[in-house]
Amino acid sequence: MTPPLRLGVNIDHVATIRNARGGLHPDPLRAARMAAAAGADGITAHLREDRRHIVDDDIAHLIGGIALPLNLEMAATDEMVAIALRHRPHAACIVPERREEVTTEGGLDAAGQHNRLKPLVTRLGEAGIRVSLFVEPDPRHIEAALSLGAPVVELHTGRYAHAEGEVREMELRRLSDAAALAAKNGIEVHAGHGLTTDNVAAVAAIPQLVELNIGHYLVGEAIFVGLEEAIRRMRASMDAAR
Ligand code: PXP
Repeated sequence: MTPPLRLGVNIDHVATIRNARGGLHPDPLRAARMAAAAGADGITAHLREDRRHIVDDDIAHLIGGIALPLNLEMAATDEMVAIALRHRPHAACIVPERREEVTTEGGLDAAGQHNRLKPLVTRLGEAGIRVSLFVEPDPRHIEAALSLGAPVVELHTGRYAHAEGEVREMELRRLSDAAALAAKNGIEVHAGHGLTTDNVAAVAAIPQLVELNIGHYLVGEAIFVGLEEAIRRMRASMDAAR
């Protein structure tokens, strides 16, 4: 049997709701603690340049307030590297970031940005932070991650999640081929973006995957069934697929 998949719960959109009124409620730290109680294996938070959801204080609170590993999603900028080095999260996932985007719309151009990424990956790695690169499931980017010395890649599942029929099948094959290539080269493989209980099974069945990071759907479902129940249902869908 394939080993169980880790579930990283992304709590960004708890902060989105909080920030809509500018106060303290709902608190992402409370959500992170609930996620832990419901069976999450890690917490993920994206500190964006424009601080549209998670803010700097959230990172400090999460680092000090949860027992689970924190995966800090961040752009490849000097500001974010300094923040990561100050807080020393368990992991840092390097994502592309554009101010005008609604969410992280594509993977990092790991192949085209070797010289910019190399020092950053090295500095974070030397500080004991496990670096992952959020990339499209494309062999070019897996090879780039290898040459950058990144121990982890996170495969962008957005295209798969938004496709239908044959296109979805093709996107699934791209994910599964990229996962196999990365694992064969000793890179740990994670995946995420746009995953729901309806589409997670096929991704969770890819044997080389060891972690999924899921946020928007879980926070949305929390409105209807509560956060703990939403996470439990996702966990059950993932486990059933292994
Ligand atoms: N992984 C990465 C690198 C992301 O940027 C995001 C979105 O912030 C996710 C996972 C989670 O995506 P979603 O919120 O669609 O579940």
